[in-house]
Amino acid sequence: MNILVVGGGGREHAIIKKLRENSAVEKIWALPGNGGIARDAECAAVKATDIEGIVDFAKQVKPDYAVVAPDDPLVMGCVDALTNIGIPCFGPEAKAAVIEGSKVFSKNLMKKYGIPTARYQTFDNMDDALYYLESAPIPTVIKADGLALGKGVIIAETREAAKDAVTEMMADHKFGASGDRIVIEEFLEGPEVSVLSFTDGKTIVPMISSMDHKRAGDGDTGLNTGGMGTVAPNPYYNDEVAARCMEEIFLPTVRAMNEEGRTFKGCLYFGLMITKDGPKVIEYNCRFGDPETQVVLPLLETDLLTIMQAVTEERLGEIDVKWSDESACCVIAASDGYPLSYEKGYEISIPDGIWPYVYVAGAADEDGKLLTSGGRVLGVTAVRPTLSEAIEASYDMLDEIEFANKYYRADIGQRALKAL
Ligand code: AMP
Ligand code: GLY
Repeated sequence: MNILVVGGGGREHAIIKKLRENSAVEKIWALPGNGGIARDAECAAVKATDIEGIVDFAKQVKPDYAVVAPDDPLVMGCVDALTNIGIPCFGPEAKAAVIEGSKVFSKNLMKKYGIPTARYQTFDNMDDALYYLESAPIPTVIKADGLALGKGVIIAETREAAKDAVTEMMADHKFGASGDRIVIEEFLEGPEVSVLSFTDGKTIVPMISSMDHKRAGDGDTGLNTGGMGTVAPNPYYNDEVAARCMEEIFLPTVRAMNEEGRTFKGCLYFGLMITKDGPKVIEYNCRFGDPETQVVLPLLETDLLTIMQAVTEERLGEIDVKWSDESACCVIAASDGYPLSYEKGYEISIPDGIWPYVYVAGAADEDGKLLTSGGRVLGVTAVRPTLSEAIEASYDMLDEIEFANKYYRADIGQRALKAL
């Protein structure tokens, strides 16, 4: 069994390591992968957004199966293109990936089908948006419609900041065409929970819940990042919340996408806020989260490839998906200065014993040396019987990994520990 994986970050490394646990898996290609992934897969220099290049590569190597992990290729129709040349794929078609690709689409979907989310207005005209902000409740949340590398959401604490955000998106085109339409929505409060799920459009199987740490600094201060660490399970996601999410959010979303003729098959990610009025959807992603995947997949006991193929073949209902009852913690080591400017090209040393627990996000291989090449460099995940043990073990491993300008948050998991 030979598999093609599209993507090249820590999430893809976690998917590849998990797929490797299946002894039927022989070859894995990663497009483009990275210097760390290259130790577990064959990497080729084809960008994840180069759909034509991916199709050409697939025609050459003829994989038995493909996994498309990042948002852009999914929204651009990578799964459609690979399916067209006869390669079975894990991931939604473009018409279903729009649930992440357009916030206007997803907000309207939730409104139409009564799925709980923040109240909102959509705008395609800047003057109308600015006029609305004259009397909108503050704080308010401004969101670019399209993909914006996770930076298209602005929480505005003042009316001025809200207007600036709208002007940057709609007049200055800070996010290109992604900001031509915007959503202005109600500011919600409460703990956040990430729930990834497997769905084939008939059955939905939520994975273990997790908690991301998006801000760069300790105590949730500083700029938003792609995620500085994760823990699973998330203590705020108790049985009662889980049952409500299933009835009020997960099943209605799957049915709504079917009704719209946009059946979603793949990993559907629910970004949830547990408000005093119950769980609400903050965002949908059409893919595995990063770095959520790095704590969720290590807790998965059922074979990942078996589940993925069942999703593709629409027989997920036949699979008994089992999870460990332990806890996981992933701490990200970044280049100091991330998410703004940072230096790269520093050698990374990782003791062999720790390698199985490392997921590389931004590193290049130069003559056998692993050099930092990105903002987020790698994550290290520990799985232990309790959350506090998992936190301690992941930091212990991180201590043994060395590179110049290594930066990490010291408090990953502390909020979850307090909630327990
Ligand atoms: P997103 O890119 O949609 O994940 O949004 C980034 C972050 O902004 C989320 O993880 C939340 O912390 C925050 N956020 C988004 N929408 C809202 C909202 N309506 N109220 C409060 N915070 C929000
Ligand atoms: N960690 C958040 C995301 O993957 O969008």
